Amino acid sequence: MMRLRLAILPILLSVSLVVAAAFSSRWQQVPENDHSRPNPLAGTPQTVAAGALVYRDHCLQCHRTNAEGDGHKRPSLRSDGIRSASDGDIEWFLRQGDLGHGMPSWSSLSEAQRWQVISWLRSIQ
Ligand code: HEC
Repeated sequence: MMRLRLAILPILLSVSLVVAAAFSSRWQQVPENDHSRPNPLAGTPQTVAAGALVYRDHCLQCHRTNAEGDGHKRPSLRSDGIRSASDGDIEWFLRQGDLGHGMPSWSSLSEAQRWQVISWLRSIQ
């Protein structure tokens, strides 16, 4: 019986690690309403051009030219993670930020500016 318990322990541990990782993922935390919000400005060239300016003024200093990241703590925004996140997920995250990890909140931008920069990000994926 004791042997069996010892054998199960590592399995339980790894299962709980996988579950913890899934729940701590950024996009898992997005409320359903935000997750499913469509980008109201999607698809127009004007929006993409406006988003490029928002990016240049507010994001480029960290995420670098073409959103490739700095290869260190400031991630590329042309990643599988971003591609698989919904526009609503990203808009939610821009409002929250993650200051503890160096990402400011962008709730100071207008909502339109957040959707614009997301449109620009989509245009370069
Ligand atoms: C002061 C530096 C800085 C600025 C400016 C900045 N970011 Fe970030 N950003 C970060 C860091 C650092 C992270 C990683 C945070 C983490 O690991 O939790 C991040 C993460 C992100 C993520 C999540 C990436 C992922 O794969 O999960 C997105 C999306 C993002 N930033 C978009 C933007 C946009 C859009 C702007 C401009 C409006 C911006 N950031 C401006 C530093 C910055």
